[in-house]
Amino acid sequence: MNGIKQILISKEELGKKVKELGNKISNDYEGKDLILVGVLKGGFVFLADLIRELKIPVEIDFISVSSYGSSSKSSGVVRIIKDIDISITNKHVMIVEDIADTGLTLKYLKEMLQTRGPADIKIIAALDKPSRRKVEIDLDYKGFTIPDEFVIGYGLDYAGKYRNLPDLCILDEEVYK
Ligand code: IMP
Repeated sequence: MNGIKQILISKEELGKKVKELGNKISNDYEGKDLILVGVLKGGFVFLADLIRELKIPVEIDFISVSSYGSSSKSSGVVRIIKDIDISITNKHVMIVEDIADTGLTLKYLKEMLQTRGPADIKIIAALDKPSRRKVEIDLDYKGFTIPDEFVIGYGLDYAGKYRNLPDLCILDEEVYK
């Protein structure tokens, strides 16, 4: 497909990692009910794969925040476009995100959901780009640490496209030059 510079993480590697994460979470949450909050839009592919590797009862909900690159984002103010529908009071919650970049989205979401009185909140990110971090966040579970490259595929987009690529790829600079 046009716009791909190279494959960074293949779908096989992604699948293997998601299985490992699923096993770990299933062990850690044995005997507990878990609510997974997927962050739209990018988190939906990872969430869909992850839930099928879990052996514990889970409920799923989604939250949608303002898109990457907006001015509100760089100031750390994230706008909620769609909130979750279910109550998380006294529940075990895990935020499921595609990538931790500056960390602003995850920091905001965790603090916001914390005000609703959950039993606890953890964060899982498929990818971590620590070199770009602006605020400190704890990733309780993560898939891969990646270099400072703009990546597409496995749910991640550039200008709304490429989410459907099964591999995680580096975007060709020609696309945004
Ligand atoms: P943060 O608030 O800066 O951590 O941004 C997280 C969001 O930015 C992610 O949910 C993605 O939607 C987007 N994002 C960050 N890095 C990339 C990338 O390399 N490719 C595509 N989207 C990205």
